[in-house]
Order: sequence, then structure tokens, then C-alpha cells
Amino acid sequence: MSVTLNKDVDENRQGEAIEMEGKKPTGKKLYLESYGCAMNFSDSEVVASILIDKGFTTTKDQTDADVVLINTCSIRENAEQRIRNRLSQFNKAKKQRPGMVIGILGCMAERLKKDLLEEEKLVDLVVGPDAYRDLPGLIEEVDGGQKAVNVLLSRDETYADINPVRLDKNGVTGFVSITRGCDNMCSFCVVPFTRGRERSRDPHTIVRECADLFEAGYREVTLLGQNVDSYRWNMTSKGEIKDPEKPTTNFAQLMEMVAEVNPKLRIRFSTSHPKDMTDDVLHAVAKHKNICNYIHLPVQSGNTDMLKRMNRGYSREWYMNRIDAIKRIIPECGISTDIISGFCGETEEEHQDTLSMMREVEYDSAYMYKYSERPKTLAERKFEDDVPEEIKQKRLEEVITLQHEHSLKINKAQIGKVEEVLVERVSPRSEEQMLGRTDRNHKVIFDREDSKIGDYVMVEITDCSKASLRGVIV
Ligand code: SAH
Ligand code: SF4
Ligand code: F3S
Repeated sequence: MSVTLNKDVDENRQGEAIEMEGKKPTGKKLYLESYGCAMNFSDSEVVASILIDKGFTTTKDQTDADVVLINTCSIRENAEQRIRNRLSQFNKAKKQRPGMVIGILGCMAERLKKDLLEEEKLVDLVVGPDAYRDLPGLIEEVDGGQKAVNVLLSRDETYADINPVRLDKNGVTGFVSITRGCDNMCSFCVVPFTRGRERSRDPHTIVRECADLFEAGYREVTLLGQNVDSYRWNMTSKGEIKDPEKPTTNFAQLMEMVAEVNPKLRIRFSTSHPKDMTDDVLHAVAKHKNICNYIHLPVQSGNTDMLKRMNRGYSREWYMNRIDAIKRIIPECGISTDIISGFCGETEEEHQDTLSMMREVEYDSAYMYKYSERPKTLAERKFEDDVPEEIKQKRLEEVITLQHEHSLKINKAQIGKVEEVLVERVSPRSEEQMLGRTDRNHKVIFDREDSKIGDYVMVEITDCSKASLRGVIV
């Protein structure tokens, strides 16, 4: 049972390497592999753009590379373990090609800083998520025979002006980051330490990037942030206007701006935070046909005391109020969530509350995890990681089993409907079939007929499993 999925990035894309031709190649070859959430995959595009601009070309063959970079994730212990294993594989390659530069980027670089140079002797370069503009210089330092580190976090870096080189091969769906960092301090979470303070990107650069993507043939953008609802431009965190001469922009207004780029450009967004998601946002979704009827609203737990220990900033009642608002304002809206099983002090009753909450909401899908203690977090300092491993596992399995029931039930309810599907790729199982998603974010597989990647087609849903729908073009 796969439970290590990161939302928005398929498990089969974890560890994916980038391939992109440079415009003025000067010979250096870059191998860049990404792990973790969509933010990391989006950042890898920024990294590739910066280096391609300096003459690098990308390669999918690590043994052929001059520079090997891994963009890493620290969210759970097993995410870091996977990367350590990968590093030891690179170690072998380095023995054969001592001139090869090996660098760690992203959240693990930020969390472990210099320790990585000492611990993992093969690493030459450690670069945190706000220091990517410095990469060309740092690589030069390493070429000069030194180790190089830059893990400074910034209060204003958003890479707003860097037009990312798109790395996903389908050329139809893309990620656009709108905020960086997180100020929330959920007690279990390492992200505020690895990504720093929250900051929003200039709305005009976001709209321009979306328009450029549409021009290039893209038909769907996902606006990314750890908490998209707290997007704000020209406003302080207290809601005061910074420059009275200039307009302010909140998340609902930003979505409307992006929705107007083109009616054929679908818009998704992730992640919405239950404490900050306002009715404005829901009304914007309801008003614009091209803003998809799908909301990812991580609950983490269905018990109010537990939510307090998690420092999530809402109660079960507040969360249910947000779910009711979604169902009222956007009928037929897909809803998904994240759940953590076995957080500090979780009692059987608290676990049962999570299950009962799931029954009340009936999520389309969920990303479900066992609690993994992270160094320096509030929970590590304040609470004991006291739920035994077997109980964590058992509760997680109960959560997964229930979610599978709900996913299957919701998928079955789609049978007979005719849905607009954006064709994303050829099905990995058969050349004769295509794969796309409905507005509500359900995966659909159908015979290709004469449809092409990037087309919108009307598909009648004829069958399903818990993971996907099947249909025929009508
Ligand atoms: N910003 C998003 C979450 C980003 S992390 C939000 O607030 O919803 C993605 C998910 O990983 C979280 O929603 C949580 O369910 C899970 N997660 C984070 N830290 C974890 C930990 N220490 N152990 C297990 N799961 C964790
Ligand atoms: Fe982590 Fe909470 Fe921020 Fe999400 S909102 S990234 S869970 S601290
Ligand atoms: Fe994302 Fe992992 Fe960092 S989930 S923000 S890459 S810790």
C-alpha cells in the first residue's frame, strides 16, 4: 500500500530527472533529480532555468553529468532516508569520475546545512531553497576545489522574474508558485524551518507566467503555496496596506486575474488552509468555469484537542463549517485532504473522531501518513512521540481502508455522467488509450480515437476503480 505520496506530484515522478536543451550550451552537463512536493518540482524548474542561462545542458544520464543535483524533501524521516540511499549510489559514480560535482538542494539542505558536508563526505555543494540564484557561482567555487554552502533564507526572494523552463514532458499542465515559505508553525511540521517566512509573489508576474504558458500550449496551471489563502500583495500580515498608491491583491482576486487569462486555461490551486479559506475564494471558484471545482483542504485530524496540539488554528466545528460552505457554494466540488495518524498523545477516541469526520465529509481522495517526528519542531520539543509503531500502522490502515471505500463510492457515482476532460498524456498501460482529468480532478482513462494531448474532450464515464474512471469519448 503506497502511503508516501506527496500531493500534486505522482509517486512515479519522485526522483524524476530533468531534460531540457540549453540555448547557448557551453558543454557542462547537469543532472537534476527532484523529490517531495510540487513546490520542489517547481523550484527545480527555476534551478534549471538559472543554469541553462549560464550555458548548461541537462542530461537524463547521471554517469554523463558534470554536475549532479538532488532537490530534496525533509517532511518525514522516510523521505530523507530515501535521499540518503540515493546519495550513496552517487558515491559510486563519483569514484569513477572524481571531477563530478554533487550538490544537495532544497529542504534537506536547509535543515542539515553544513552537517551534510561532514556527514555525507561525497557532497560538494549544499544550497537552500532561497539561494538558487547563487548556484552558478557556488558551482565555480567547487570547480576551484572548495566545498560550497549557501543556506541563507530570505524574506523577499520569490524568483518572480525567472521564467522557469518547463520540465514536465506533457506540456499541458504546469505549476506556478505564488507564495514561498510558511508562517503557520503546525507543531509537527518542518516546512517553516526549511522554507522560511511566508512571502507572496508580484501578481503581475504570476499572470504573465500563466499567459506565457497558455501561449506555449499549456491548458492547466496549478497555483502553488503552502497556504495559498494567505496570499497577499501590497498588504502586511495584519491586512494593512503597504503602499496606498498601489492596488492590493488577495488570493480570491489573484485567482480571478488568472482566470481571465483565457477561458481555455484551467486553474487549480494548492494548498488551501482551513483556518484561512474564506467564502470569497469559494465564490471565485463558483463564478469562473475555468477555475476547477476541486479543493484540497488538509484536515490532519478530526478531533479538536488533537488539532490544538497540532497548532492548526481551527477546531473540528470550524473545519466542518468550511466543508459546508464548499458544498453550499460549489455544488459537485471535489474535496481531498491530508491526514496524520498516530500524532503525539493520540487516543483511540481521537482516532475514531478522525474516522467519523471522514464519514461526514466523504473525501474524493486523501494523502494519509503516519506521524514522523521531525527535529526542532514544536512537537519534538513539547510532546512525546508516544503512539507505538504498531498502533500508528493499524490506525493508518483503518484510515486508508475507509478512504478507499469513499473514493470507490464517489467514483461509482460518476458513472453515466458526461465530463469535460483535459487530455494530459498517453496512458502508461496502453498506447491506444489516453489519460486526462475532469474538472473535479478525477483521473479518466479512455480510448484515444482522434484526441490529442492538450485537447478538451467530452467523455462519458462508463466504469471505475477506486483510483480512476474509465470512459468513452462522445
Ligand atoms: N502546507 C500544507 C502541507 C504541506 S506538507 C498544509 O498545511 O496543509 C504535506 C502534508 O504532509 C501535511 O498536510 C501533513 O499531512 C503531512 N506531514 C507534515 N509533517 C508531517 C510529519 N511530521 N509526519 C507525518 N506527516 C506529516
Ligand atoms: Fe507545515 Fe502547517 Fe505550514 Fe502546512 S501550514 S507547511 S503543515 S506549518
Ligand atoms: Fe515540500 Fe518536502 Fe520541503 S514536502 S516544502 S519538499 S519538506
